[in-house]
Parts: sequence; structure tokens; C-alpha cells
Amino acid sequence: MISSKLKQIWYGGDYNPDQWPEEIWHEDMRLFKEAGINVVTLPVFSWAKLQPSEDTYQFEWLDKLLNLIADNGIYACLATSTAAQPAWMSRKYEDVLPVDVDGRKRTHGARTYFCPNSKTYRRLSSQLARVLAERYKDHPSLLIWHINNEYGTHCYCSNCAEAFREWLKVKYGTIERLNAEWNMSFWGHTVYEWEEIVAPSNLNGDNRNFQPMAIDYKRFMSDSILGCYQGEYDELKAVTPDIPITTNIWGLFNGLDLQKWGEAMDVVSWDSYPQMNEPMGNVAMRHDYMRGLKEGKPFMLMEQTPSQQNWQPYNSLKRPGVMRLWSYQAVAHGADTVMFFQLRRSFGACEKYHGAVIEHVGHEDTRVFRECAALGRELDLLGDRLLDSEVHAEVALLFDIDTWNAVEMTSGPSVDLNYLEQAQKYYKAFYDQNIAVDVLSPLSDFLKYKIVAAPVLYMLKPGVAERIEAFVRDGGTFITTFFSGIVNENDLVTLGGYPGKLRSLLGLWVEEMDSLLPEMRNSIEVGEAFGHVQGTYECGLLCDLLHLEGAKALGTYGTDFYAGMPALTVNAYGKGEAYYVATAPEQRLLRDFVRTLCEKQQITAPFQAGAGVELAQRVKEGQTYTFVLNHNSVLAAIELGQTSYTDLLSRRDVSGTVEIDPHGVMILQIA
Ligand code: GLA
Ligand code: ZN
Repeated sequence: MISSKLKQIWYGGDYNPDQWPEEIWHEDMRLFKEAGINVVTLPVFSWAKLQPSEDTYQFEWLDKLLNLIADNGIYACLATSTAAQPAWMSRKYEDVLPVDVDGRKRTHGARTYFCPNSKTYRRLSSQLARVLAERYKDHPSLLIWHINNEYGTHCYCSNCAEAFREWLKVKYGTIERLNAEWNMSFWGHTVYEWEEIVAPSNLNGDNRNFQPMAIDYKRFMSDSILGCYQGEYDELKAVTPDIPITTNIWGLFNGLDLQKWGEAMDVVSWDSYPQMNEPMGNVAMRHDYMRGLKEGKPFMLMEQTPSQQNWQPYNSLKRPGVMRLWSYQAVAHGADTVMFFQLRRSFGACEKYHGAVIEHVGHEDTRVFRECAALGRELDLLGDRLLDSEVHAEVALLFDIDTWNAVEMTSGPSVDLNYLEQAQKYYKAFYDQNIAVDVLSPLSDFLKYKIVAAPVLYMLKPGVAERIEAFVRDGGTFITTFFSGIVNENDLVTLGGYPGKLRSLLGLWVEEMDSLLPEMRNSIEVGEAFGHVQGTYECGLLCDLLHLEGAKALGTYGTDFYAGMPALTVNAYGKGEAYYVATAPEQRLLRDFVRTLCEKQQITAPFQAGAGVELAQRVKEGQTYTFVLNHNSVLAAIELGQTSYTDLLSRRDVSGTVEIDPHGVMILQIA
């Protein structure tokens, strides 16, 4: 459990009372209780208010607020406020402001614009965390610490370059080794002294020219920012060892090594802002990724909007029922909290058109408030039964931030190759069939799964190939694709034929990779049916020209000078099988392919459901809770068969064919 202080699904969100006069606070309390809100995140951006100058603090307003929420039975997700430093700090200490990748020194403004290697920033942010912890350690409202907010700004200043050199010395030891690991003889970039190493710059195109350095710089930035987090974390832990600590991740993004960050948090939290028309599988995948950062432990949905955003090109309203539906989707995938940005809509600056529980009109008689209050009541009725429940998946999808960076920065083979999109396609193939997936790092322990899919496993880190081999030898089913096993962790090609260390496992070698123009297509011809895979499928993007070395071709290319060469293969290896998809096929092939492999492995959906109806399960103390989520704006049906279930939300018993409302949700438990 995240905290035994609050044994129900946490419901609430970002609250910015420092933007409002005090009389509003009392009205807020009334409305929060009306909406069933039990936790508020504050004060996220109040450093300037908490510390008007370097030697003065001002806490009375926060004391008053925390007392007020405690009196109203509400808890605090207490933020350290360090995401936006006060103007006096940027003015007084030149090292606080970052330099961007184009070499421009930033002026004061916005937020998360600080240099992560600024000694001043580190000192003052940790100090503030310490002072807050000392002041509020015994406050009854203190539930969890929320450090900073959506970390992620990279800096290229001279302090960072200096810290980068120190980081490299620790990593590589000698300059000779660094030259070798980075292949610095390319374009004559050999260095002889550490001082000759500078930060990569957009001006030189160094992200595209020197991937080993650019990838290391990203790792170094992630570590640097983590250093800021850790500075605050240590101060908080020293004073309040029993209070959990988190920082909200802004999404599935490659600016931080999220795997490492997951380890550094007591509980993972993240902010979910799907576009109105975004495929729901992408959202589900992000939740699964967050759950995977902490070995399947429940995570926090720290932010979502109750209605609309302000920063998307088109800030559509969530249609009636959608906020509730997406909230339960998060819970179905492992969230133990449902929290919003924001509770009261600001009236000035860029977030005044961002949705909130309390709208500008100021009262509770709005559609959004009514929907929030109804959800609050429902979550309250669910009590603690779902808290800490687990997701049991038999399929793992391997996803890696370094690989993402490496593919993004690579020069060739195709500008259209997008690592995340490829991973989403494979995830979707399982998601559409309501098969649960754990999204994990290639370095994680995936031996217990029945199927492991690793699309575009471009970068193979030490030990990963061996682990995959052990998995397959032991009976596992492994799927990988074109552009896999190509490079080591520093983006240097593994010589001796692609896919490098996966060659014997897959029983093939790739001689050439063809990059297709956007309008070009080839096809995969499956003569002899492989389960549901049969006939002709379109493919494009990249096409490997490969030779079999023990693998069997299940499908071959239909056209071009490599017509007839294998495009989809399987290799028997130990007790298991390793599949290779040599090109980017249309989704229909992945659907048929995944269906076939799941049937072979006896992996099934909880029950039958129509298109657009998502089924996801959480398990606790022998009880299985099946979430039925109708993402359609029309009625849908599910087929429950003979078994009788109770829907925990409507309190109805159901069996056989059951209709589910447009955007409706059920949580079924065997009656
Ligand atoms: C992010 C931030 C919030 C807010 C929202 C708006 O998630 O963490 O402070 O700006 O975006 O969508
Ligand atoms: Zn810097």
C-alpha cells in the first residue's frame, strides 16, 4: 500500500490556493468534500512564496492551509516546490540558468529551467526540502512527498560539460578506452586530454554525427537531474523515513532513463494526457510501462484533466463518461490513485483554459463537477479492495529508453523509423485481443513469461542476448523484428552479420536493409497458412534481405528484386521458438500472428468482448477483478457465458450476454 494512512483509492489533485484569496479556500473545502476528494497536491510552484529571499522563509500561509485541509479530513501530497526557482535566485546566481542545445543561455522564466549541475540550485532545493520536512514532519495531513514536477530539462552549460567529463572518467577510466568505446577515430575526433571533450551541440549536429557521445550525454543528463532529485530525497528521508516519496513523470518520454528513476522512487507517479482521438492501446501501454518501472507495484495517476487541456492544438472536452472511463482504465492497469490537474481553474496565465474540477463559474452546478463528484462517490464505495492488487500478465514487451534515443539519433536507414510507434504496434496486437502485457526493460527479469516481444531491439546491452537465449531454450516464445541486435550499448555495430548476437537464436543472418520511400509497399506472402496467418499482407518502411541458417520461412516478399526471400521466420531453439519479422507489416498481420502465438501458448482473454471493449484484470488475495471498459460511444456487448458475476459499480449480478453503456465501465467479480 502506498500509505496505510489512507486506505482507499486516493482521489484529488493539484491545488493552487496560493493563486487565490483566503476566503476562496473555505469554499474549496466545501466543494472538495462534495466531490469526495481526499488528497490535494500542493504547493507545486510556490518556491517564491515560501522563500522570498535567500535568508527568509514564509510558511504561515502553508501552515494555515495544511491545518485547514486536515480539519476537513483531506491529506496532502506535499510538494517541495522546487520546479520553478524564484526570480531572485536566477538573478543572484548566474549558474542556475541553463544553456540549451543550441548554446543559448536562458533567461529567467517558465519552469524546470534550471541547470541540474548548478551547485546553487542543488544546495537551495535540498535545503528547502529539509526545511519543509522539519516543519511538517508531524503534520497530520502529510501523506506523501512530491518532489519537483516533471523533471526533464537538459542543459549544455560549461558546468555541465565539466561534470560530464567527470562522469566519463568514472565510466571509462582512461582516455584510450573512451576513444575506443566512442569510435573517435571517425572523422579524426580522437582526444588526448579529458579537457578536450565538450558537450554535444546542435550547431555541430553532434546528436546525428556522434551517437556514442550523444547517447552518453543523455544518460549523463538523466543522472544529473536524478542527482537533484536524490538531494531532496535524502533530506526528506532523513527527517520522515516513513513517508513515501515520488516525483511525477510527464509521460513515456526519452529525456530521462525512466528505469533508473523508477528505482529511485518509493512509488512511481505520472501524468496522463491523451489526445481526444489517441488509440486507447497507446494509453494502456503507458500505464503498463509505469507499472513495470517498479516490478508491477501500483503506481499513482498523479495528473489527468477532468475535461480539457490548454496545450494541445485542439483542446477537446472529454465527452460525458470519458473522464470516468479513463480513470478506471488507469486503475485497471495498476493505478491506486485518480488525481487531476487541477482542482480549481486558474484565472491568469497559460493554464486558464485548462480544465479543472471547479470551473471559472466557481460553483458545483457544472457537468464536469457533477461527473467528478459521482466518481468520487463510486471510488469511496470501492473502499480498499483494489489497493495493492496485481496485474498478472503472461506476455512481456521489452521497451528501452536508450534504444529509443539511439534509434531517434541514428543517421539512416529511414527517417520514418519511429521506435515508439513500432513498440505501440506490437502492444496493440495484444491489447486489441485483451491480452495483458507487462512492459519491461530488456534488463529486467522476463524469464517467467510465455511470450516476450522485443520489436526493434536495435541496441543490445551486455547480457541481454544471453538472457533471451535462456528464455527461449527454456520453452519461451520470442518475437523480434528488423533493426534488432545491430549495435552495442554505445551504438557501435556488432560485426559479423546482423542481427549480431541474436543470429544463432534466430537462425538467420541479414545481409542488407532496404529503406522504402513513403509511398512504396512490398508484401509478405504466406503460402502455407501459419495458424491465422495466411494470404498476402502489405509491408513497408524497412525490408531486411536475409538468409536462413536453420530458421524456417513462414512468409516471403512478394515483389522487388528480393521477391521470394524470407520476410517472416521461425527458428526452433531449445524447447522454445524465436520469430523474426523482417519488415514493418500492416497491423492485420500482427493481429493474426499474435492470435496464433497466443493460441499456441494457451494465453486467453478473460472472455469475449466486441471491438473497442477493453478487458483488464487486477488480482488480490485470490479475487480477480475484471474491468470492462467500453471505449465506444455506442452500446457494446460482452459474453460472460454461464458464470455469474457481480458488477461492483452498479451492484448488479450479470451473466450470459451483457450490454455495456457507451463509455461505460463495469468491475466484475465472480458472484
Ligand atoms: C503538466 C504539469 C502540470 C500542468 C499540466 C497541464 O502535467 O505537471 O503542472 O501544467 O501539465 O496539463
Ligand atoms: Zn548546466
